[in-house]
Amino acid sequence: MPGETIRKDTPPRVPPHLDDYDEACASFSWEQARSRLQGLPGGRGLNLAHEAVDRHAATDRATAVALRCVRRDDTVTTLTYGDLSRATSRFAHVLRTLGVGRGERVATLLGRCPELYTAVLGTLKNTGVVCPLFSAFGPDPVAQRLRLSDARVLVTTAELYRRKVAGRRTRLPGLRHVLIVGDPADTPQGTLSLTALTDRAADDFTIPPTAPGDMALLHFTSGTTGTPKGAVHVHEAAVAHWTSAYYALDLRPDDVFWCTADPGWVTGMSYGILAPLLHGATVVADEGDYDARRWYRILAQRRVTVWYTAPTALRMLMRTTPRTGPYDLPASYDLSALRLVASVGEPLNPEGVLWGRDVLGLPVHDTWWQTETGAIMIANFAACDIRPGSMGRPLPGVEAAVLRRGEDGRADTSGGRVTVLREPGAEGELALRPGWPSMFRGYLHDAGRTAAAFADGWYLTGDVVRRDADGWYWFVGRADDVVKSAGHLVGPFEVESALMEHPAVAEAGVIGRPDPVAGNVVKAFVTLRPGHEPTPETRRDLLAFARRRLGPAVAPREIDFDPHLPHTRSGKVMRRLLRARELGLPEGDLSALERTETPG
Ligand code: WT7
Repeated sequence: MPGETIRKDTPPRVPPHLDDYDEACASFSWEQARSRLQGLPGGRGLNLAHEAVDRHAATDRATAVALRCVRRDDTVTTLTYGDLSRATSRFAHVLRTLGVGRGERVATLLGRCPELYTAVLGTLKNTGVVCPLFSAFGPDPVAQRLRLSDARVLVTTAELYRRKVAGRRTRLPGLRHVLIVGDPADTPQGTLSLTALTDRAADDFTIPPTAPGDMALLHFTSGTTGTPKGAVHVHEAAVAHWTSAYYALDLRPDDVFWCTADPGWVTGMSYGILAPLLHGATVVADEGDYDARRWYRILAQRRVTVWYTAPTALRMLMRTTPRTGPYDLPASYDLSALRLVASVGEPLNPEGVLWGRDVLGLPVHDTWWQTETGAIMIANFAACDIRPGSMGRPLPGVEAAVLRRGEDGRADTSGGRVTVLREPGAEGELALRPGWPSMFRGYLHDAGRTAAAFADGWYLTGDVVRRDADGWYWFVGRADDVVKSAGHLVGPFEVESALMEHPAVAEAGVIGRPDPVAGNVVKAFVTLRPGHEPTPETRRDLLAFARRRLGPAVAPREIDFDPHLPHTRSGKVMRRLLRARELGLPEGDLSALERTETPG
């Protein structure tokens, strides 16, 4: 274990709510946590958007800033809670007028523009289901997710529509309406101007009764094989968004909160939109792309107090300003408002934690969770000591366990039973006891894969972890072949399938190759069909083909030709072996493949 523990020396702003971890866990109940929310008047249920927006708009927080969007050109759009309440009501009316109702999916393919926030929250008010898509996806992943989600409505821009959707529209018969954000004069054929519709809509909307278990969000995530999985989340997830932000991120109403995650992924939804609004805080959103100066400027100018980011972003900052100094760049910005920095999505090694401490003046708090968990499950709490390199300890209300693994690297579930490992230093698959409010309620239309995610009363995470003698969890690696690149899960099967649609490709195997900044980059090994030569032209052609279809976030960065891909006895490409060879590891030692920095 890295020797150092970063102790909280009780600075003045340490909150009182989690200075005693054991006490906080012992006295916690989800029932009590529910009372933090208001519910719809007259016992008409619980609606996420009511809790996040209207509830505050009905109080003196109506004039507090809910959202500050820094546009690409550096202009800032500001919405108070009152503004956000009215804008989301207009959007809800637009859906109602279009005949889009309860449970119907509304997909968003947008950057961090104000309309994203109003579309998401307006859909929730209308008791519809929000399905966010990643704007760096190419046409194939977008069309596939629109089809799998059975989306009725898509909210996007004219440019993204033309580039990613228009060519596939005839194959998406369920997609009835495409609403275009931006200049009403630029509304492609077959779409509607959102501006024109919202301008005509009333700005008060009565939220229909909403059951806490009604479907609210649909987030796609990738597995080892098959199509992307649509994880279903419900309105009562709000309870876990609220509590996790309270304990792990120390969020309060007077905070200015910036989450750098893309709104196409679960972090950008749970913490980029919902959790800070549930707390009545101010959300800062940046429509622009990563740039070290831009990011420091936003932190300083917007007086950000709590910052939630990712290891890839931190590594990019670390490249511009190494821990060894000089610290000229960050030192030229006033970061004095910042009181907490937290990270999620990939392993954060001790160097990242210590870089924060030395360069930003605040150690980085690692947090762990997944699309399926909907909210933070394990964290280095805001008010507690940090163990650099550790994911932290389970949140109050979260029961975690380490399960013994079988031959295939996943938890041993033979006979329908699992074995919980209790000894200090136990290593195995991380499992969680179902029952927290933001737990996914299944993969849409996929009872088989839903059932496979549970065994013997546990949810199986697919991650391998070690728990130390004091109950802290340390990430070891993934138990499957899914690739984490720049914090985003990439399904190797999706990439292999796209490559195999190219006439030159007979077979493909896709792995993550370790990368100092992105964590992993997507790398493909390709067997060519007879008559095709492994030339630089073929490689360029394949790279461009994959990029066109999959988009830059998913397409392979590298392609190697291999006439003899290794196969399992059942004929599947052995990705783990490809990875062992790529890393120069002994081929027999497959268990060690994904080992990152772990306690020693
Ligand atoms: C997978 C989940 C967390 C929401 C955004 C990503 C990896 C996540 C950590 C961490 C090491 C981490 C795991 C997990 N992961 N946080 N702190 N340390 N690995 O959600 O796309 O569903 O990815 O991200 O492998 O299973 P996701």
